[in-house]
Amino acid sequence: ERADALPRDLAGRRLVISAGGTREPLDPVRFLGNRSSGKQGYALARLAAQRGADVTLVAGAVAGLDDPAAVDVVRVQTAQQMGDAVAKHAVGADAVIMSAAVADFRPAAFASSKIKKGAGEPDSVALTKNDDILAGLVRSRNDGALSADTVIVGFAAETGDEQGDVLTYARAKLARKGCDLLVVNAVGDGKAFEVDHNDGWLLAADGSETALAHGSKALMASRVLDALRPLLPPPS
Ligand code: CTP
Ligand code: CA
Repeated sequence: ERADALPRDLAGRRLVISAGGTREPLDPVRFLGNRSSGKQGYALARLAAQRGADVTLVAGAVAGLDDPAAVDVVRVQTAQQMGDAVAKHAVGADAVIMSAAVADFRPAAFASSKIKKGAGEPDSVALTKNDDILAGLVRSRNDGALSADTVIVGFAAETGDEQGDVLTYARAKLARKGCDLLVVNAVGDGKAFEVDHNDGWLLAADGSETALAHGSKALMASRVLDALRPLLPPPS
């Protein structure tokens, strides 16, 4: 879509969007990471800015993407850094979209010098849980640290398994996280990661569920912003 043909329906709104994967260091040369490319978050940031929003993009590791025009980019590496940056910029924001792939765990210890191969068998890597940034935002909104009007959007990548399908897991995740919208990507079989197309569902806290037919990440971004916009309070 041509930027000059887009609605300016987010003018005057401040959005915080996280994107990419976090990297959890093990020693100075190694980290635990994930396959997130950052493409979906960057597409959201670019489009939100084109629709008039003032956008802060909190970017973890991304696959050589150009910074979107007219977007304030804050670079982070770890989940803890991402959590700090998101919490800081969320204050006064109209909406926060957590499209980043935040590592659930980090190595429990950071070795300040390179871990050597040595002669014997390797040690296992002990892990510890990272804070859930999205759940923390919802908590902050509940306890008044963030405005009650702040719209909070989560993402979920689900494969489904013997215990439940993608939608079953996604509904449970929306309820558990307490966010307003959950963008659900069906993953596995080469879907969603490192590719230009996604498909899945858009679940809202009011129980509405919209299928997202296969489309580009730019199209996904426009559907997400279209669903978010009516949740924003009337402009002040
Ligand atoms: N998320 C977050 N902080 C974390 C982990 C996840 O903010 N430490 C956010 C992601 O950015 C995403 C949403 O939570 O918006 C869902 O992430 P997901 O990994 O699907 O959910 P988890 O609760 O970590 O559940 P699991 O990985 O076990 O499916
Ligand atoms: Ca996770």
